[in-house]
Amino acid sequence: MSYTAFDFHENTEKARSKNTSQRNSVRGVFLLAMSIQQDTEFDLGPEISFTKFPKLITLGEEHYYLVNGKKGYLLLSTICPHQGARVSDEGKAFMCRDHGWRFEHTQGECVNGPRSRMFSFPVTVQDGHLIADLA
Ligand code: FES
Repeated sequence: MSYTAFDFHENTEKARSKNTSQRNSVRGVFLLAMSIQQDTEFDLGPEISFTKFPKLITLGEEHYYLVNGKKGYLLLSTICPHQGARVSDEGKAFMCRDHGWRFEHTQGECVNGPRSRMFSFPVTVQDGHLIADLA
């Protein structure tokens, strides 16, 4: 079987396209793996942009309070550790209206109920930015 220059060109383009497609597929898998690996870390922004605490932060569909306490920055989940209702900022403390548990502003420790605290996640400063790790 003989090939014309057109056939050669067309076959080369098909092979190139297939290779590109495979490369893109592998690249996609790699990027997906990278994004899965990095999905737990979130850049909240420059540290100097946060001046008032607690600060309500939304990541995806979840809400947190950024606090700056004795042990540094933390993200506190707004999901109540008791039975999962929503915790809100009531000025002097966080409060869950379902059963009245209140939590202090620096570590999210319960101040009027059983020994409990809000779910918390570490926040570090990296290159002047606050990085939350939700792992
Ligand atoms: S669900 Fe929050 S105090 Fe009960």
